[in-house]
Amino acid sequence: MPAAIRRVVFNQKGGVGKSTIAVNLAAIAASRGKRVLLIDLDPQGNSSHYLLASVPQERGTTLADYFRQLLSISLFDKDAPSFVIATPFAGLSLMASHPELAELMIKLESRYKMFKLKETLDSLSDRFDEIWIDTPPALNFYTRSALIAATRCLIPFDCDTFSRQALYGLIESVDEIRSDHNPDLSVEGIVVNQFQARANLPQRLVTELREEGLPVLESALSSSVKIRESHEAAKPMIFFDPTHKLTREFDALYRSLSDGR
Ligand SMILES: Nc1ncnc2c1ncn2[C@@H]1O[C@H](COP(=O)(O)OP(=O)(O)O)[C@@H](O)[C@H]1O
Ligand SMILES: [Mg+2]
Repeated sequence: MPAAIRRVVFNQKGGVGKSTIAVNLAAIAASRGKRVLLIDLDPQGNSSHYLLASVPQERGTTLADYFRQLLSISLFDKDAPSFVIATPFAGLSLMASHPELAELMIKLESRYKMFKLKETLDSLSDRFDEIWIDTPPALNFYTRSALIAATRCLIPFDCDTFSRQALYGLIESVDEIRSDHNPDLSVEGIVVNQFQARANLPQRLVTELREEGLPVLESALSSSVKIRESHEAAKPMIFFDPTHKLTREFDALYRSLSDGR
């Protein structure tokens, strides 16, 4: 059985659609019969909330428990599958966020635990077809761990001039992680989110980025209030409104990704 495809959704800027894209593409994969794992590394837990409505309170089941375990030497360590929980959606599993992730970060960093997530994903890899990693809006310990653990990186882009400047630095960060730690990592594409096809500026920005050779994906996502409703209902678009325009765009985006099948 081939190992899982591992994707990280990364952009240091908040509010560009990382969590929305990670959850909706993971949900589409699951709806197509894939065995999918979503890993929510953002202490804010937006993806976990999106899938579960509430973050699990039970001790021992979230990524905070997983990372805390990395800091203590114990004979009774739980194995990686213990931290994978089910969601209400068939085929879609979750390693859930917890606010404690924020406090754990400095210790994890000072004790060089950045490669542990990759080891863990290696051990989980044949249980899943696809692993999607959502990251915090920063290039910190969790984001670096994800870029080391993944092989493909999707970068959401909101067509803002400031974001464009940040994009170059962002791609440099990915290049640096690739050359220092993870030769298998590549930028799979830049996903244009909340695209206003009729406005001039976004059109021009996208054209210019393509001319510069940046891998801007053809499948853009338009803006719709339905996304908010879908967050509110804790149901990804493919289950909340399967025929909506944005759902079709997510589906087209998913199919356009290599091995999207
Ligand atoms: N295509 C879209 N149309 C409308 N609203 C969107 C769209 N994508 C994201 N949003 C909204 O923008 C906000 C930020 O999205 P989110 O996925 O949380 O970004 P990030 O994870 O990068 O911080 C959320 O309130 C979300 O509902
Ligand atoms: Mg987010």
